[in-house]
Amino acid sequence: MTVVTNPYLEGNFAPVLEEVTATELKVTGEIPAELSGRFLRNGPNPAAAPEPSTYHWFTGDGMVHGIRLRDGRAEWYRNRWVRSAAVAKTLGEAPRATRSHAGMDFAPNTNVIGHSGRTFAIVEAGSLPYELTDELETVGPCDFGGTLPGGYTAHPKRDPLTGELYAVSYFFGWGNDVEVTVMDTEARIRSARRVTMGGPVSLHDTAITQTWIVLFDLPVLFDLEMAAGGASFPYRWFDDYQARVGLLPRDGDSTEVIWHEVDPCYVFHPMNAYDELGGGGGIVLDVVRHPSMFRTHLLGPSEGAPTLERWHIDGHGAAVKEERLDDRGQEFPRIDERRLGLEHRFGYSVAVAEHDDILGTESGLVRHDLVAGTSEVRSFGRGTTIGEGVFVSSATATVAGEDEGWLMTLVYSGDTDASALHILNAGDLGGEAQAVIELPQRVPAGFHGNWVPDPA
Ligand SMILES: [Fe+2]
Repeated sequence: MTVVTNPYLEGNFAPVLEEVTATELKVTGEIPAELSGRFLRNGPNPAAAPEPSTYHWFTGDGMVHGIRLRDGRAEWYRNRWVRSAAVAKTLGEAPRATRSHAGMDFAPNTNVIGHSGRTFAIVEAGSLPYELTDELETVGPCDFGGTLPGGYTAHPKRDPLTGELYAVSYFFGWGNDVEVTVMDTEARIRSARRVTMGGPVSLHDTAITQTWIVLFDLPVLFDLEMAAGGASFPYRWFDDYQARVGLLPRDGDSTEVIWHEVDPCYVFHPMNAYDELGGGGGIVLDVVRHPSMFRTHLLGPSEGAPTLERWHIDGHGAAVKEERLDDRGQEFPRIDERRLGLEHRFGYSVAVAEHDDILGTESGLVRHDLVAGTSEVRSFGRGTTIGEGVFVSSATATVAGEDEGWLMTLVYSGDTDASALHILNAGDLGGEAQAVIELPQRVPAGFHGNWVPDPA
């Protein structure tokens, strides 16, 4: 008998089966007293055992992990499944509210954000966000008081000057259209626009500048045949698709997109974008570029080293000018988000071990100084894997001190089969950790998270 295996169900990709609440956490070092809030992280964690031959990493039920810090202490760790109807049923619980978009109900597994004093687990491709309590219990699916016209995205972008969230959402039922929304600081959608792309794209993330919203029109498309065949994530690469990047005026009509052709590639995540100095309408867009995606490996992202690039886009329709900043494999780019949509100097990414010429089989965080053109790598040692580095500023009132703050990341050790939250000094990445908080169970490899500060 052949035993079918799936790499996204093995090692630290395997789901954890217990929901834990722990209040006695071992801490090494000193947790900064000004860090008052929650570090949250979402990721796929199937509640019912999936079929290994077809399981796609992007489709596991969401589980949110959280660590609460206050007064220099780690008050708790919790992990909770997001209770979609199916997850609730698997756990033997009654379903929560039944609101859905297009009959799709899914436990969002890709990101978790704080907005307007509330907590939301979010995902792309058509399903609604789910609201959670501060303690990560499921409230239920959320359409923001009836203002969200469809599903949402895992990557809304917060304008640091207004506090509003800009998002681009896709859903196969909208044909070639995507929806661009702006959410106000009261968690209500104040603007929604449909924009027509070249095809039914899978559009994972966006970027904003003070002038533009960036639309990635790249060759990963909905595939009806895959959907009909029962694929849980029916999107794949199309060789002959014209890759483009669109710039939509932030407050303009949806027909005013300026398109710019780009060499075929896929971008899950931009690092940041900003308007080029001089007012010519162009932008600088830093991205992690994959040479292709879901072309040969259909169950998860794995098609060559993702590299850090700077794209120059003129805002008038010329082809994108691509500049390689770092050809070492890396992903999960983040910045000091007080600089989101504004010119940034520093960026942080995760070295991708399997392609890696940065650290061999070790995992590491990379700190880029994009002005000096230098980078620094912090290794976490052999047999470890890490999550994205989340920047937390040490002073929220000013944008003067970019890079003044901490990087938080989850570190998993294969040797001990345990995870810890590391708090590092962002400006001295190679130095001694500020604090390491040991967790009572491992946190499986997952996607995105954020630091959600307590209300001031
Ligand atoms: Fe993402």
